[in-house]
Amino acid sequence: MEQRRTWAEWAQDFKQYIWNPEKKEVLGRNGKSWCLILLFYLLLYAFLTGMFALCIYGLLATISPYVPTYRERVFPPGVTIRPHVSGLSYSFNSLEKNTWTAYSESLQKFLEAYDDEKQIANNVVCTPGQYFIQEGEEHEEKKACQFRRSLLQNCSGIEDPTFGFSQGKPCIILKMNRIVGFKAGSGTPITVTCDILKGNHSLIGEVGFYPVNYFDLMYFPFYGKLTHVNYTSPLVAIHFTEVAKNTDITVQCKIHGQDIINDHKTDRFLGRVVFTMNIR
Ligand SMILES: *[C@@H]1O[C@H](CO)[C@@H](O)[C@H](O)[C@H]1NC(C)=O
Ligand SMILES: *[C@@H]1O[C@H](CO)[C@@H](O)[C@H](O)[C@H]1NC(C)=O
Ligand SMILES: *[C@@H]1O[C@H](CO)[C@@H](O)[C@H](O)[C@H]1NC(C)=O
Repeated sequence: MEQRRTWAEWAQDFKQYIWNPEKKEVLGRNGKSWCLILLFYLLLYAFLTGMFALCIYGLLATISPYVPTYRERVFPPGVTIRPHVSGLSYSFNSLEKNTWTAYSESLQKFLEAYDDEKQIANNVVCTPGQYFIQEGEEHEEKKACQFRRSLLQNCSGIEDPTFGFSQGKPCIILKMNRIVGFKAGSGTPITVTCDILKGNHSLIGEVGFYPVNYFDLMYFPFYGKLTHVNYTSPLVAIHFTEVAKNTDITVQCKIHGQDIINDHKTDRFLGRVVFTMNIR
């Protein structure tokens, strides 16, 4: 019967394995063997790093920073509204300033970029009704069309800095998400409509749109933020002047046009936006 090795013997063997002074071996290998192994791994990793760098370089060399590479099919735009509010629910009492100042401040901030002086200084006047196509190299800076906030009239925040909230007639601003190269509407402007999602239409009443209820073609295409530096998205301000008070009203605003999807079952922001209002 083999005797069980003692702890001391095992420790001795282990020490021998770590450093064997007779054979001059570390972990069972001598210096030369270790050198070869290190060299092997060094070369292996150098090779892998090189391969990886080559792949990345190849990828970067074929993609342009100015336009998306893969866009066989332009995905239709989503829409967003301002003022920003959690849960897309506007609830306020027109007589209590503190219930709506967050909304009017959010709109003031959002519209700063559209100040008439800024737009006049940075952007050009374009011809309505046609796309603003700019020839030239894709890396050249592109001009942007003016969209002056005064166009938003009673929803511009200029004459009424409360955007109608103080009168229970709120303004909501709608914008489409930017898509590089997208010729919105394919020749016919994309229009905006708003209606009550369910319930009696009279609860929402007449709705005003500023400057108009469509996105003019001249604001498209967008050439990308690297070259279209001063581009400001066109807006449609929606003025709810006859909304019923003291009741939850669910409003759906949609965009309509060629290639627009506004009835997707799961994507609630594709071509439409649904929000609630409760005005006291
Ligand atoms: C963008 O605006 C700046 C001023 O803010 C102006 O100097 C520049 O020329 C504009 N760029 C283009 C491409 O119009
Ligand atoms: C804009 O507001 C003013 C003052 O409240 C009002 O008289 C005018 O009718 C409004 N304009 C529109 C187009 O609703
Ligand atoms: C909607 O409301 C108006 C006014 O309250 C009423 O005359 C009309 O019959 C209602 N319509 C429906 C479909 O309930």
